[in-house]
Amino acid sequence: MKTPSRVKLIDVGPRDGLQNEKQQVPAAVKIELVHRLQQAGLAEIEVTSFVSPKWVPQMADNAEVMAGLQRQSGVRYSVLTPNMQGFEAALKTRPDEIVVFGAASEAFSQKNINCSIAESIERFRPVVQAARDAGVGVRGAISCTVGCPYEGEIAPERVELVARLMREIGVQRVDIADTIGVGTPLKVQRAFDAALKHYDLDSVSGHFHDTYGMALANTLAALELGVWNFQSSVAGLGGCPYAKGATGNVATEDVVYLLHGMGIETGIDLDLLIDAGKFISDALGRKPHSRAANALLTKRLG
Ligand code: HMG
Ligand code: MG
Repeated sequence: MKTPSRVKLIDVGPRDGLQNEKQQVPAAVKIELVHRLQQAGLAEIEVTSFVSPKWVPQMADNAEVMAGLQRQSGVRYSVLTPNMQGFEAALKTRPDEIVVFGAASEAFSQKNINCSIAESIERFRPVVQAARDAGVGVRGAISCTVGCPYEGEIAPERVELVARLMREIGVQRVDIADTIGVGTPLKVQRAFDAALKHYDLDSVSGHFHDTYGMALANTLAALELGVWNFQSSVAGLGGCPYAKGATGNVATEDVVYLLHGMGIETGIDLDLLIDAGKFISDALGRKPHSRAANALLTKRLG
């Protein structure tokens, strides 16, 4: 066990969470959500994506949301950019980090970004170069690192290949994503071991969707490897429009409850985080998809 004493969470709720909502969420609500997350102590927030509005209409207000932020010093604001068109639009909104997103599965790459893995790397190359030239950080998301909705199980060698290609084009750190939440601890550890052939422990993060209820177990499995960066989504928002049936990311509230219970520091105030989750869940007309949040909200009433 080399469990870290401190963990950094990136809340991806405003992006991964909201991208899947059918009803357009007003930009003002998205901005308020980001403000509440930073007040709760989130030091990294994935705000939006600069993708085609025909593909993901919910993210069409990307520039408006970025412009409306009252930025807090010490907070890193990231956005997704699949190509140069997205990057050029994103750069004007001054993100601290951009995210290129590829996949360990060919079929998912085609469905999600309309190109093969090899083509995606060629699209990312100038984006990564331009971002680094502009002093903007670069993260790479690798989808379907354990399973794919179209291809089934994914071998760790596929993850290693994409990690290597991302490393070669200058991506600084990578997210090991279980897009459809089918992973179990040993499979997830194998995916990390594959990525760790090309990135060090400080440069990999876990991104677990909770479709099968395995995300916290997978988080613990990654912690045991020493991984200390994770993505999660306030109130368990979300899903991917190109992975039907997949639910949201693991709820940030649940991950914080787990970590604090293990004596691991996050810098996050769980009460304020629960308020942020309640705010967005009320705006969407539902209860938070977080066991810890609902338990603690019930306790507040008592
Ligand atoms: P394409 O159709 O192959 O692109 O889509 P194209 O270059 O041929 O352009 C076609 C049209 O799209 C043109 O417009 C372009 O201007 C426009 P038209 O001339 O037809 O009016 N276009 C854009 N507009 C705005 N911003 C852009 C942009 N690029 C082209 N950046 C593309 C390729 C990648 C754009 C498309 O497939 C796309 O937008 N995909 C979005 C996929 C997406 O957002 N998926 C969800 C995020 S990934 C995720 O959730 C997984 C993750 O959480 C990790 C995990 O859990 O696995 C990260
Ligand atoms: Mg995701």
